[in-house]
Amino acid sequence: MSVLIPTMGALHKGHQALIKRARSMSKEVVVSIFINPLQFENKDEIAKYPRSPERDIQLATLAGATEIWMPDYEEIYPCEIKKLKASAMADLYEGASRPGHFDGVVTVVNRLFEIVKPEAAIFGEKDFQQLQIIHAMKSAVEIIGVPTVRAYDGLALSSRNVRLSEHGRISANVIYRAMAAARLAPTIAIAQEIIDTTISTDTGFECDYAVIVNEEDFSLATDSTKHKRAIIAGWIDGVRLIDNMRMGA
Ligand code: PAF
Repeated sequence: MSVLIPTMGALHKGHQALIKRARSMSKEVVVSIFINPLQFENKDEIAKYPRSPERDIQLATLAGATEIWMPDYEEIYPCEIKKLKASAMADLYEGASRPGHFDGVVTVVNRLFEIVKPEAAIFGEKDFQQLQIIHAMKSAVEIIGVPTVRAYDGLALSSRNVRLSEHGRISANVIYRAMAAARLAPTIAIAQEIIDTTISTDTGFECDYAVIVNEEDFSLATDSTKHKRAIIAGWIDGVRLIDNMRMGA
């Protein structure tokens, strides 16, 4: 069986966890590295996206990748692009802030699946809305989510963290602190208040959204929702950070 780990490069320990998980299931582990222009709203963001191909090869190999595939644009999009439409969940939160983003994601994931033809594909839970939207593609490829890898202070590992200033990096764990403090709150209202209060103490964090949703469809969670998840996104130093955490014991 072959397992695919789609990435945009600038690999870190979070990606290595995905590769190790793939390796525990299969001898054939393909890591794709492709910065997909379709999922960026502006060209500036593509230019700023960190690139470290040599280090990526080292990290992927060390974690157990058997093939590292760095396709060029023409290989992925050889002719006119037929952009796929992501499920309704794609209009909410991350999708509302980044119009067209998830259509770009499902389009490239579909192309990667068409070309590599893996039996399974692994994605990080850090991009939880993306993971749910990829599940909703209902492809024949088995989709597996792997828990977020965090730094010593709780900050979720992300390729974008390298763009934070020294001060920004210190305050970036406000997202984790807010979710962790709210996790065991007895009601949604109290959990939301804890999140809002924690976030408001950090003046460097420009919050986009910080809410507790139903994991299944990203509607706002109520106290009776079975699987509730806090989702938070915002900017520090102009760098967009997103994270999430299952609420409850
Ligand atoms: O999560 C990512 O890095 C990207 O969205 C993905 C899944 C590789 C598609 O380009």
